[in-house]
Amino acid sequence: MQLPPHNRENVLPLPVVLISTVSKTGIRNAAPWGNITPILRPLDEIVLASWLRRDTLDNIRETGEFVVNVPPATMIEEVMICARNFPPEIDEFEEAGLTPRPSTTVAPPGIEGSVAWMECRLVEEITREKYALVIGKVVHLEMNDRHVTGEGDMDFGAARPLCMVCGNNGIRFTYPVDAGRFAPYSEMFVRRA
Ligand SMILES: Cc1cc2nc3c(=O)[nH]c(=O)nc-3n(C[C@H](O)[C@H](O)[C@H](O)COP(=O)(O)O)c2cc1C
Repeated sequence: MQLPPHNRENVLPLPVVLISTVSKTGIRNAAPWGNITPILRPLDEIVLASWLRRDTLDNIRETGEFVVNVPPATMIEEVMICARNFPPEIDEFEEAGLTPRPSTTVAPPGIEGSVAWMECRLVEEITREKYALVIGKVVHLEMNDRHVTGEGDMDFGAARPLCMVCGNNGIRFTYPVDAGRFAPYSEMFVRRA
């Protein structure tokens, strides 16, 4: 079946994160984000795409700091409350009943109960006609101790980090399931005899 080009996220599952920021007057904000990705393993930058009219973008521009919270699937209702277009003077932690978690290196708090937290500093904004690409440096990265395996990886089966697939009429929320195949990084390199 052929799809219109703008339906890219109907065929490409995306992560769902909650980005927490504070305004320059100290108002807390949280918003769900799907257009976000690390820039190349093993570097420490991430990039997110934002429509220009976002309190999140304004706050990042004003303060240069944000936290990328990875919510578990149990947090979908809070995620959808934060998706509403509240005016900037509304504290979205209060609206969604989110418990703040003090950050280590940046002013915006993280969100208690998340699977992981990335504290970020703005590196560069690339502004286009309709949107902005925000490049951030992860300055502090933490995984919830409840979901760490013996190897120090995320036990994603238990953690159930939130993901999404977009349909024609709405969002279907998902989480990763083990496909039963592990590939060590060394497998990507051709060995010559
Ligand atoms: C699952 C989900 C993912 C979203 N991803 C993005 C995104 O990648 N970029 C964006 O600009 N808006 C995205 N949005 C919309 C914003 O979260 C929404 O407009 C929110 O109200 C923005 O809040 P703010 O103005 O407080 O920043 C997404 C919404 C949902 C529900």
